[in-house]
Amino acid sequence: MSKIRHFIDTQEFSKEELLQIFDLMSTLKESRKQGAIPQLLRNKSLAMIFEEPSTRTRVSFETAMTLLGGHALYLKPGEIHLGVRESLFDTAKVLSRMADVIMARTLFHKTITDLAEFADVPVINGLTDYNHPTQVIADVFTMIEHMPFGKGLEDIKVVFIGDRTNVCSSLMHMTTKMGMHFTQIAPVKYQAPGEWVRIAESNIRENGGSLTITDNMNAVEDADFIYTDLWWWVDQEDEAEERVAAFKPTYQVTSAVMEMAGKQAKFMHCLPASRNVEVLDEVIDSPASIVFDEAENRLTAQMGLLVYLTCPTVRVGTKEEEEKYHEKIEQILNRELIMM
Ligand code: CP
Repeated sequence: MSKIRHFIDTQEFSKEELLQIFDLMSTLKESRKQGAIPQLLRNKSLAMIFEEPSTRTRVSFETAMTLLGGHALYLKPGEIHLGVRESLFDTAKVLSRMADVIMARTLFHKTITDLAEFADVPVINGLTDYNHPTQVIADVFTMIEHMPFGKGLEDIKVVFIGDRTNVCSSLMHMTTKMGMHFTQIAPVKYQAPGEWVRIAESNIRENGGSLTITDNMNAVEDADFIYTDLWWWVDQEDEAEERVAAFKPTYQVTSAVMEMAGKQAKFMHCLPASRNVEVLDEVIDSPASIVFDEAENRLTAQMGLLVYLTCPTVRVGTKEEEEKYHEKIEQILNRELIMM
């Protein structure tokens, strides 16, 4: 029996495995554009737990399951017993008996790692307080689609401007895993911690690429991709004023910043964006912006990941097998009963 693979952190995958997932994504994207998606998850289900709100992650996973022939269940805290009236262990075991794969967006990273430990089906991380791997697999795929002519991954410079968010963590780790060049530009207080840097440095030793962390905006020069994220999340509302003072105007993505990066530079954002806060409309709505291609590729990524994680372990029966069970059920239903 194949070992279950979870998708909790891109660090748990080799560069070659990530490239294999990209190949699946590319093929599935093409099949979607042709209206000819193989029904690899026919009659299968995905349990989706969301401890925080979502537009892209929820819609892309639900749509991906439907396109592949299966379906998804949206499980909202407060409406299921997760960790309140039932232990996480029991919930993981029960979901594993009914669903073929679990996706969860959890407040704390420990919740997703516990779910993966207890579940008997693949578990996918839909964002935690530490990382956002399904976002960055879509992001790097989008970068490949928009890669300047003649360049390879090893030539690509990605500059993340802003706070050390969960997206920043995953992007730093995925790009260095792929041998790319990653820069974070932020005030010192908001720069990546040493623990993240050590992971990136170990990736660089294995795969090449480089890591730069600085507070100097001159580091945007020659960037192929300029990326930013929200300056504060919902649980940081009380820090909003302090954060605006720290980031604005120096670390706001403006046309001047894009010009400093160079003509080749594309703009990316995981979304949702606070328009005219971390990025001005003049950039997000400009021809250099690829934010909606990036958002669409969340769907491409979920299709690739669902197929990659489930197809070795989940079996889809043939039409002949279904017919055999259909006949058996008809016989049961047509059985003459002795009425009491
Ligand atoms: N980028 C992202 O994860 O978007 P949602 O919060 O809408 O899922």
